[in-house]
Amino acid sequence: MRKDLHQPIIEILSVRPSSYANAKQLSELIDGKLGYQMSQVEELISNGKCEFDIREKQLWIGLDIQSLQTPYSEIIEMIDLLKPKRGDFWVDLGAGYGRMGVVLSLICDEVQFYGYELEKLRVEEADRIYSLLNLQNAQMYCVDVAAADFELPDADLFFAYDFGSKADVDIVLEKLKEKSKYRSINVIARGRDIKNWIMMEHPWLSEVNSPIHRENWSLFVS
Ligand SMILES: C[S@@+](CC[C@H](N)C(=O)[O-])C[C@H]1O[C@@H](n2cnc3c(N)ncnc32)[C@H](O)[C@@H]1O
Repeated sequence: MRKDLHQPIIEILSVRPSSYANAKQLSELIDGKLGYQMSQVEELISNGKCEFDIREKQLWIGLDIQSLQTPYSEIIEMIDLLKPKRGDFWVDLGAGYGRMGVVLSLICDEVQFYGYELEKLRVEEADRIYSLLNLQNAQMYCVDVAAADFELPDADLFFAYDFGSKADVDIVLEKLKEKSKYRSINVIARGRDIKNWIMMEHPWLSEVNSPIHRENWSLFVS
């Protein structure tokens, strides 16, 4: 991470948000310091012709930028809970602008991060910021995580914030279930939809260990 930005951002991250609205305000401040141009990118996405069939894909076009993403402070909470070790590998399924990669590089840059995102313009903006910040541990990829030919890597944590259509989320949960036959899988689910679908339709994720619930996200360990 670029040295001149490290301290100012750590200072904002050390503020404990008083509410979800405050967490979003603090995140907006950090986005600005990092130089993200999310409003411009979202406008381009809204005005352009979406290349995906919106009956099959859910890209959250038109959603307010701070609601589209997980607040930075919640990513800190996840790191505090999981305490990743050197060499661990975290993945965000439907990574938006790749916030998790930024936070990891600030707090624990020995953790490798891959962000998978379907919307090309979001990936390009994340790539621009990652190279401006000179991030070494984080990479974004433009992929459909539900595609039949996309194989999930062996990650130590899979993070998913209501990333897509129900059909896509189901496909990805089935891919994770397949992996769980060979190793224990850690999934952090954020958002009402994915949490409900896991609880109602994917009991394999909560049969062995009880999930740990936080206000806006839950950790499932298979
Ligand atoms: C609610 S946003 C979450 C962004 C980020 N994970 C965060 O928490 O800040 C979900 C993202 O998933 C992306 N997405 C939807 N379907 C996808 C798919 N099949 N493959 C990859 N990304 C997908 C959307 O374009 C959107 O950017």
